[in-house]
Amino acid sequence: MPSRPYAEYAQRNADPILEVLRQELRNCRDVLEIGSGTGQHAVRFAAELDHLRWQTSDLAENHEGIRTWIDEADLPNVDAPLVLDVATAALPPASYDAVFSSNTAHIMSFESVIAMFALVGSVIRPEGVFCLYGPFRQHGTFNTASNANFDADLRRRDPVMGIRDLEALDDLGVEQELRRTGLYAVPSNNMVAVWQKK
Ligand SMILES: C[S@@+](CC[C@H](N)C(=O)[O-])C[C@H]1O[C@@H](n2cnc3c(N)ncnc32)[C@H](O)[C@@H]1O
Repeated sequence: MPSRPYAEYAQRNADPILEVLRQELRNCRDVLEIGSGTGQHAVRFAAELDHLRWQTSDLAENHEGIRTWIDEADLPNVDAPLVLDVATAALPPASYDAVFSSNTAHIMSFESVIAMFALVGSVIRPEGVFCLYGPFRQHGTFNTASNANFDADLRRRDPVMGIRDLEALDDLGVEQELRRTGLYAVPSNNMVAVWQKK
């Protein structure tokens, strides 16, 4: 069996994100995760939130790792990854009560962030929620010097990456009838932003 990919940060931030999802997804039956990455979050959250069906997804290059975590966890409520590139995606053939994504909005281009919100707006059911974890800027200001440095590092690596303005994401939400209903501060100067579909 291939060795599992492992991200230390995904292990560290799982508990605080889980506490938000426990609250926000308590009335949901299924969730689409965009950009499942290693697959660590999916198996941890699906194990703890066993009232949910957890649909993983990512670019094809990450699927082997995600499958390894899913196979080892052997949970009844987590599904093998869909190939999902938000920039080019045909819509997944389903709708969901919730969409979750972690540390993706600053990694993809802003055009892809626009496409991600459009996809969320299309697949999410009325009153469903979109929970997005990561660092954000608010009113043009970074919440810490370390996030300002992180943003500069990202943009040096690739000018299309960068920490997003929460207000710009709110505007994208409005176009999809997604209104922000929550904002949770979590450790490491990150947040979970929550938008609810009309
Ligand atoms: C920093 S990793 C975060 C992974 C995981 N969600 C986590 O928190 O550990 C960014 C993820 O976004 C995914 N990603 C980047 N561009 C994407 C796109 N256009 N569509 C879907 N996923 C994308 C990457 O493949 C990767 O899994």
